[in-house]
Amino acid sequence: MTTILITGTNRGIGLELAKQALAKGWTVYGSARTVVTDSDAHICDHPRFHDMVFDVTDHAAVRAAAAGLATPIDILINNAGTIGPERQSTLDMDFDGFAETFAINTLAPLAVVQAFLPNLKLSANPRILTVTSWMGSLSHASSDRIAYRASKAAVNKVMQGLATDLKPMGIAVANLHPGWVRTDMGGAGADIDAATSAGGILKIAEALTLDGTGKFYNYDGSPLAW
Ligand SMILES: NC(=O)c1ccc[n+]([C@@H]2O[C@H](COP(=O)([O-])OP(=O)(O)OC[C@H]3O[C@@H](n4cnc5c(N)ncnc54)[C@H](OP(=O)(O)O)[C@@H]3O)[C@@H](O)[C@H]2O)c1
Repeated sequence: MTTILITGTNRGIGLELAKQALAKGWTVYGSARTVVTDSDAHICDHPRFHDMVFDVTDHAAVRAAAAGLATPIDILINNAGTIGPERQSTLDMDFDGFAETFAINTLAPLAVVQAFLPNLKLSANPRILTVTSWMGSLSHASSDRIAYRASKAAVNKVMQGLATDLKPMGIAVANLHPGWVRTDMGGAGADIDAATSAGGILKIAEALTLDGTGKFYNYDGSPLAW
């Protein structure tokens, strides 16, 4: 049976990933900043759902959560993320907000991987997926939300390097664009719902092998340019 760890399962894409993973019969470890008690979520009282409480930027708390877990993890999905501060133009930047955006979107995914690496090594088929964004692609020059774009471009590079370093250990690493999704972040006018996005992400996670490691995928499985 597959065991998956997903960050940010209290709402948005992360909540939908957790619901769909539970529906597949998987064991789900889901993180949130506070204990999830919202019964609308339909996961907090599920017998195969296990709450993990940490802020992804609190590396000591992330390590403590990992230290308390002896079970193998087959799939780790770095999903938690932020769009960043109100003021984030190259000409008018909230630098504290920029740093926080980097802490959440770029540094935290690596810290989470490092903390749970012993659990991934216990799996027969370990995979790591990070939900980044097409907005971080260097192949176009859009400048709005530049702190967010830069943080996602940076995590793409970090995870590409991680893929190189973990390949000899048999651990596959991929980055994903989840689509433009109707969540708090994506807004009501976005292209797709969270169920469609999460379904695509889990399909990629299930199929990911070392052949696909170090790549950047759209939620529908098509390759994306860095
Ligand atoms: N929606 C889109 O169109 C879209 C497009 C491209 C990429 N993405 C990416 O997809 C991922 C999920 O986005 P979403 O649309 O589901 O966003 P969302 O609805 O805003 O949810 C964000 C999730 O991240 C968590 N989070 C934020 N900062 C955190 C922290 N410091 N520690 C722990 N958890 C934290 C939030 O928890 P709290 O409730 O505690 O804040 C929440 O669970 C993000 O990485 C985002 O960048 C989304």
